[in-house]
Amino acid sequence: MILWVLILGILLFALTYDFYLKWSFTAQAKRAGLEPVPVVLDYPLGIRTLFRSLSAVRRKESLEKMIENFRAKEKLTFTEEILGMFIVVTLDPENVKSMLATNFKSYSLGIRADQLNCFLGDGIFTLSGAGWKHSRNLLRPQFSREQVAQIDSIREHFSHVEAVLDREEFVDIQTLFHHLTMDTATEFLLGESVDSLLDSQREVYGMSCAQFVKDYTECVEWCLTRIQFGPLFRFVYPKSFREAIARSRKFVEYFVDKALAKPIETESESYTFIYELAKVTRDRVTIRDQALNILIAGRDTTASLLSYSIWHLAHHPEVYRKLRKELIEAFGPVSTKSVTFEKLKSCTYLKHVINEVLRLNPAVPRNIRTAEVDTQLPRGGGPDGQDPVFIAKGTNVMYAVHEMHRQPAIWGEDAEVFRPERWETFHPKGWEYLPFNGGPRICLGQQFALTEASFVLTRIAQKYDSIELQDPAAPLVNDVNLTARVYGGVWVKMHQADI
Ligand code: HEM
Repeated sequence: MILWVLILGILLFALTYDFYLKWSFTAQAKRAGLEPVPVVLDYPLGIRTLFRSLSAVRRKESLEKMIENFRAKEKLTFTEEILGMFIVVTLDPENVKSMLATNFKSYSLGIRADQLNCFLGDGIFTLSGAGWKHSRNLLRPQFSREQVAQIDSIREHFSHVEAVLDREEFVDIQTLFHHLTMDTATEFLLGESVDSLLDSQREVYGMSCAQFVKDYTECVEWCLTRIQFGPLFRFVYPKSFREAIARSRKFVEYFVDKALAKPIETESESYTFIYELAKVTRDRVTIRDQALNILIAGRDTTASLLSYSIWHLAHHPEVYRKLRKELIEAFGPVSTKSVTFEKLKSCTYLKHVINEVLRLNPAVPRNIRTAEVDTQLPRGGGPDGQDPVFIAKGTNVMYAVHEMHRQPAIWGEDAEVFRPERWETFHPKGWEYLPFNGGPRICLGQQFALTEASFVLTRIAQKYDSIELQDPAAPLVNDVNLTARVYGGVWVKMHQADI
């Protein structure tokens, strides 16, 4: 009996809280003379939304479920509840532009920073305001044109991938790409490559690179779970996560200690982020956190672009043939010596292929910002969703890039189809295409990533005339943590061309 009364009491409290939340959300907007964002409540307290989201991630369906969610609601902007917390979700490019650019100052990383802080500490992915500006200024010289054009280093690391592909056996190329981008990112940003393609068991501070990758992957997976738990994220902090964090940090400390051991006045020809950071601060934790942040930024994203590229090219041999033709005409069939940054940029079809991969499979499929003041989004209200809506201080707004990139209203009825040719006539007019984010927090590594991906695809096209899939009928399943990747890997056999 007591149990029933308790259950009833909790249920009553939850329902009353939901009504109060909705009432105060609407009342605040009215006071500001604006419309509220349409609220779709999922009684009680949005608990089912949490379970749906957890189950979608577990079943590797989170991207598909989000598209279904938008279509079911028939709105580009709406409010959802997770565990008693409202989240505004939008895929309206005008709203995204407002948050990221025109009204940038009204938003911070807010809740995301709190959710990720236990792993990432203070770095470019968790800081807002002055701390973020300082980090960005320190990083910017790393991405000057000359630095980005460092193709020789990419060539060297990719030759180890080639050695595996040349065996003409089925291999998970996604795993190779993850090693490749770890090797290039550590060399580029931390001054020394971990060379995981040569020896994944190589140890630093008693830990192998393979172990670091395992720990770091576990950490980003837990980070996603913390994000899903909304206001209750602090409860998601199990022992295995804490241990994986400690080990990941220890691995990165090898690079920190090396940077700190370098005399401050050392002049070097190229800019290496971690060495420059060590000139500005001698604080081990600050350098470690910044290094971990930039590794996250640079590694999984580019590996994601490359893996999805091979998946699509393997499924569209006609696109691969056309791409090979362009690249062989530009660079010849054998050597990559003539491959330069400028020449890569002039390969139009290559650009279209990469654009199309990033459209259908953006490495960062969704993102979130928190309002720092009472503000508004330009669209979402009124009968046709064209009127401004009120956003109260503290509101979390999620923008769904993956879903925006597949909206038929923007991309046409074939929005779901991989068709690089659409880029011959489609030129984004605004914020409908956003793989690298936009505004003041636009991706700093965009050119570096595009150069690395373009080089790798060029080398592959030069050398291999076809890509055989181990299981051509298998559907594409997306595995999403903070970034997206192909679930189960991309198992292919590359066939060397006769030259
Ligand atoms: C295809 C590859 C890549 C994609 C799709 C990509 C995408 C993105 C996106 C969407 C953001 C915004 C994150 C946010 O604000 O929450 C971002 C930020 C950033 N990216 Fe990338 N990125 C890629 C590669 C790289 C690489 C290779 C590096 C560095 C080596 C890098 C460095 C950064 C940095 C430092 C930021 C933070 C910018 C800031 O907050 O001011 N990215 N990237």
